Amino acid sequence: MTSGTAPGKIILLGEHAVVYGRPALAAPLSNLIVEANLVEQAEPGFLVHSVDLGQQFWLAEAEQNNPLAQAIWLTLEALDQPDPPAAKLTIKSSLPIAAGLGSGAAVSVAIIRALSLHLGAPLRPEEQSALAYQVEKLHHGTPSGIDNTVIAHGAPVYFVKDKTMTTLDIGAPFELLIADSGVSTPTSEAVAGVRRRWQEAQSRYEGMFDEIGKLADQARRAIAAGEIGTLGYLMDQNQTLLFDIGVSSPELETLVEAARRAGALGAKLSGGGLGGNMIALIDPSKAGQVSSALERAGAVRVLHARVDR
Ligand code: PMV
Repeated sequence: MTSGTAPGKIILLGEHAVVYGRPALAAPLSNLIVEANLVEQAEPGFLVHSVDLGQQFWLAEAEQNNPLAQAIWLTLEALDQPDPPAAKLTIKSSLPIAAGLGSGAAVSVAIIRALSLHLGAPLRPEEQSALAYQVEKLHHGTPSGIDNTVIAHGAPVYFVKDKTMTTLDIGAPFELLIADSGVSTPTSEAVAGVRRRWQEAQSRYEGMFDEIGKLADQARRAIAAGEIGTLGYLMDQNQTLLFDIGVSSPELETLVEAARRAGALGAKLSGGGLGGNMIALIDPSKAGQVSSALERAGAVRVLHARVDR
């Protein structure tokens, strides 16, 4: 059996503005992973089984726009392999699906890793990222590429679309709670809404994106210096701007408020918004009280994550 795994991710600061060329920070979630296992089989054909989606299909019969099949086809093409091996690929995930935690990109990267390893030509992280980006583009229109980048590199990153990917310097590890608002809104919808409003008020939106980009730059410095209190303050500022560009929601605002009142150092939505998840930066000694406050405020799931090197 050949296995490939890939972590989930959270965006720390800079979502949406990153689509317009401003920097953003993201970190992998190493305790939430997707696993792809490939086992050779005697009978011909390539069988794909996604445990979490409850799907099983032959690759040869897959729809053109099936993201799992696309990750496989793109990997075969990158490796100059005209035909898939006779095998069964099983995909399992401990990562909630469609929750803004990067499950789509993580599934692609896990498949790319398992298959390229099985074919004796393991791809480098930047190659894995480029292939996963192709899959993301087919499904999300204009992704910035931050998800596939942080997931394929498996390290906290400072990211600028089409330019830089730098690993973040972490002066002191820090901890976050990730709370799900229970409302699931596709990222593409949130991104399209921002685009519409940007078209109507370009200079105002460009100004807000600049502000968000500056916060991401300041947060990068605060993280490098281990100044966690400053990071929390910057996350709060980022949340105000995310509200202003129209991607927060009543549920997210309630969770953010509850986390701050319970002692979080900072809190904001994370990812596309209009639902999905929020993150709260915490002193580890307050994890219990902030987590309970989030649950009381309506979070359907609270996860604990640590960001370090
Ligand atoms: O919803 P997520 O976690 O995939 O994050 C999307 C981040 C955006 O900046 C809103 C979009 C993008 O492509 O970067």
